[in-house]
Amino acid sequence: MGRVLVSGLTLMGTAASPRLDKQLQRDVDEMVRLATTSRDITTREKQHAEAMKLFSDGYMNEATLVWEDILTNHPTDMLALKLAHDSYFYLAKQAQMRDSIARVYPHWNASIPLYGYLPGMYAFGLCETDHWAEAEKTAKKGLELIPKDGWATHALAHVYEMQGRSQEGISFLSRTLDNWTTASMLACHNFWHWAVYHIERGEHTAALDVFDSQIASRVRTSGTMADIVDACSMLYRLEMEGVRVGQNDGRSSPKYVGRTPRPHAGVQRLPSIDVGFSARKKSGYAG
Ligand SMILES: [Fe+2]
Repeated sequence: MGRVLVSGLTLMGTAASPRLDKQLQRDVDEMVRLATTSRDITTREKQHAEAMKLFSDGYMNEATLVWEDILTNHPTDMLALKLAHDSYFYLAKQAQMRDSIARVYPHWNASIPLYGYLPGMYAFGLCETDHWAEAEKTAKKGLELIPKDGWATHALAHVYEMQGRSQEGISFLSRTLDNWTTASMLACHNFWHWAVYHIERGEHTAALDVFDSQIASRVRTSGTMADIVDACSMLYRLEMEGVRVGQNDGRSSPKYVGRTPRPHAGVQRLPSIDVGFSARKKSGYAG
C-alpha cells in the first residue's frame, strides 16, 4: 500500500507523468507485479493497485469505478475516497464529486481518523453543483475541525468568488494565510483565487503583486502542471484586462519561469490542463 500511496500522490500531484517519466512507470509496474504475486495481500489492496494502474495508464473513469467498488465495502477508506474525488475533479464530474462523499458520509463519525477532511471535500462538491449556502456552511464546519485543510479553504474561496463577495474572500484568505499555505499542493491555486478577487475589483496591480510574490515562485519550485496552468491563466486574464505582462525582467517575464513547463510538453493527460497550456504562448509562459 505504501507504493500505491506514493505513486498515487505523485500522479495526482501532476508533477510527473508515466508517459515521460520512466522511473515512475517502473514504480507503477513494480507495484502491479507485487500486487499480483504477493501472497499476503487483501482483495482491497489488489483493487487499490488495479485502480492506480488504470489511472496511470490514463483510464481515469475506469479507475474511479474501482475506487467506488472499494468504498461500497469499505466506506471509510479515505485513500479510495480522496483519489476518486480528485479524479472526478480532473474529469469535471461535478455531481459525482458531491455524491461520492454523500454516499459514505453516514458511515463516518468524529472518532474515525481523517473525519475532519470530509466536510471540505463535500463542500467542494456542493460548490460545483451550485448549492452555495450549504457549501459555505459545510466548508466552515470543515475549517473548524481542521483549520489547515487547504481543500476546505479552497471550497470557501469558491463560495466567495461565485457570490461576488471578493472583499470577504480577500479578508478570509489573508486572515488564515498561515493555515492554508501549509497545503503545498493547493497553496498556489488558493493564491490564484486571491488574485482573481483583485481582478474582479479592478485592482490589477494588487493581482500582479500576488502573482509576483507567490504564484511565480511556487511554479518554479513545484513544477506541477496545476501550478503552471494557474500561472498561465492569471497572466492571460490580466492581459485580457489590458495589463501588459511579461514586458520586463519581473516574475511575469518568460525569463523568470524559464523551462519549467517543458517537461510537461506532449503529456496530453487532461483536457483542462491542455487548454491551460494552450494559453502559454499568449501569457508569455511559452518556456
Ligand atoms: Fe478553484
